[in-house]
Amino acid sequence: MTDSLDGVRDHYRATGLTERLKTALTALGPEDKRLTPQQLGALDQFHTRGLAATVELARFAGVTADSSVLDVGSGVGGPARFLAATYGCQVTGVDLSEPFVDAARYLTGRTGQSGQVSFQTASALELPFDDGRFDVVLLQHVAMNISDRARLYCEIRRVLKSGGRFATYDVVLNSGEPHYPVPWARTPATSCLLSAGATREAIETAGFRTLTWQDDTEAAKDWIVQLRASGPPPSPNLGVVMGPDFAQLSANLGRNLLEGRLGILTAVFEAASTNP
Ligand SMILES: C[S@@+](CC[C@H](N)C(=O)[O-])C[C@H]1O[C@@H](n2cnc3c(N)ncnc32)[C@H](O)[C@@H]1O
Repeated sequence: MTDSLDGVRDHYRATGLTERLKTALTALGPEDKRLTPQQLGALDQFHTRGLAATVELARFAGVTADSSVLDVGSGVGGPARFLAATYGCQVTGVDLSEPFVDAARYLTGRTGQSGQVSFQTASALELPFDDGRFDVVLLQHVAMNISDRARLYCEIRRVLKSGGRFATYDVVLNSGEPHYPVPWARTPATSCLLSAGATREAIETAGFRTLTWQDDTEAAKDWIVQLRASGPPPSPNLGVVMGPDFAQLSANLGRNLLEGRLGILTAVFEAASTNP
């Protein structure tokens, strides 16, 4: 397991990320100018369909101002900042990649949200929180990097209150082998995809009841077709975060979706009242 976490860390190593972001963001104004979460939308929502997917997932999860929210695999923090700005809730993000956590803190300073949104470097398989601490846990485009799904979903169940919500938005295996590299893995060694059915089984076994189950593959395909028609996204975008090969990684994700090799799943679960 250590080896596979090291491989994932290496994939998201993002050397010098915060400095690169500082340079790229001069396009939006001087360092002391406060930015809105919306201005960062092209570079801080690291998943298929971008901000629109986070908007929908938060609605399904029933986030409110009183929710204590954990974003597992929080990336550079776009979903966490969006939730705090939209609902007024407190959000904690954890991510395996130290450069991503550093960048998430920097961007959150730039949006003036540091009092409401915080980030820690930690593994999803060993969450540094007490049992029953959160009302809502989000997991967006992270599980495909994690082979030990039983442990992942048990950890999420552990830190959720009974009756709390777990909202996941992930890439799932559909039919045939994916083409690599993809945005979460440059080789199959760090890609740990499951089918939608196997994902559901692993989550329910960890002590969850399914509330929402939605196949988003067609919406993702439409998004890919639109992206292809509209050309490269405005700068700064996710290329700043993932480096010069990001266009190739995301082109392969599009190809895998359009060829039916991969699918996209949105699902929300309720934490059962006792651990299994
Ligand atoms: C594709 S990005 C998604 C980021 C964010 N959820 C978003 O949607 O903007 C995947 C993230 O998961 C993180 N990650 C992968 N495996 C992890 C693990 N075992 N524990 C914590 N974070 C992990 C990576 O470091 C990366 O930031």
